[in-house]
Amino acid sequence: MARFHPLRVAAVDRLTDDSVALTLTVPEKLREEFRHAPGQHLTLRRSAGRTDAALGAERTDGAHGTDGADGADAADGFEVRRTYSICSPAPDPGGPGPRTLRVGVRLVEGGSFSTYAMKEIGVGDELDVMTPAGRFTLDPAPGLYAGIVGGSGITPVLSIVATLLAREPSARFCLLRSDRTAASTMFLEELADLKDRFPERLQLVTVLSREEQQAGLPSGRLDRERLTRLLPSLLPVRQVAGWFLCGPFGLVQGAEQALRETGVPRSRIHEEVFHVDAALPPAQSAAPAHSTVTARLDGRGGSWPVRDGESVLETVLRNRPDAPYACKGGVCGTCRAFLVSGEVRMDRNFALEPEETDAGYVLACQSHPVTEAVEVDFDR
Ligand code: FES
Repeated sequence: MARFHPLRVAAVDRLTDDSVALTLTVPEKLREEFRHAPGQHLTLRRSAGRTDAALGAERTDGAHGTDGADGADAADGFEVRRTYSICSPAPDPGGPGPRTLRVGVRLVEGGSFSTYAMKEIGVGDELDVMTPAGRFTLDPAPGLYAGIVGGSGITPVLSIVATLLAREPSARFCLLRSDRTAASTMFLEELADLKDRFPERLQLVTVLSREEQQAGLPSGRLDRERLTRLLPSLLPVRQVAGWFLCGPFGLVQGAEQALRETGVPRSRIHEEVFHVDAALPPAQSAAPAHSTVTARLDGRGGSWPVRDGESVLETVLRNRPDAPYACKGGVCGTCRAFLVSGEVRMDRNFALEPEETDAGYVLACQSHPVTEAVEVDFDR
């Protein structure tokens, strides 16, 4: 069960003009709770003026790994939650949990949390941090792996690459990253260090969309056509055991299409979307006039009537403010629940893999009852 705990800021490192890395100290008694797999994320919460009991009315956006221009100002009593990927390597399974956690935060114009992180958070501050979540993860094993990332999408993949190469001596990783300019590229030093440590096992390819490079690939966007041409010249595409795609929706979608066209099975492709165009229209369908949601959460259950237009998460939150969520936009996957009975319609889903939806999991924040009775289990 995801829980918030206060963690102290140990360091704030400026990465680029518009991004920082926050290092958080994990007290000894919380190290097991904050044990994470490479690729997982943390949800950071900033609240003021109201308690958790009023969460049903708060505003969040659909961004993961970045911050939304939602206008929610903590001073007016709203709570803001944002998910940020952990960039530090994951602890060894047999050893102690992490002493510190590091996340990357990129500034979004008007983004309330990222502005706060860039301008106000300092060493010694205490932040409300949810225990790690997310299924964009790698279980280190021998073989060849690859990543295609855009912008701040490097953040979870940095943890994946560092953990894999350190833990699995016969694994290799090919990382194709794109950014606007060299100056806007996050974690340059960290990747250069990894390349120094593992020169034979890490292949690093950078594409800048708005700047000519001295060496490397010509500038321009990494879209589906370009990737379809480029990938086979970089690595034996079909021998890759796992592909990790992370970044804006357009890049992730284009990369997936390119890989599928090249014959890569869907089961080898892992995706994490960092930003979705808020204007994407939700799916529409008729909802029953009266429906009831039954939910199990942290061992306790309850049944509550659904108000007009509410999502399953909103109904649950009105009655159980401890229900897990972060983005409310179908992106982070924090609100994942198992659909025990009934039917729901999901507006959008950028978080669950097809195997998860096939197995019966839904995103509570995007689910609207289609049947009069719906039962979900957040504990499974
Ligand atoms: S809260 Fe992020 S997907 Fe539902």
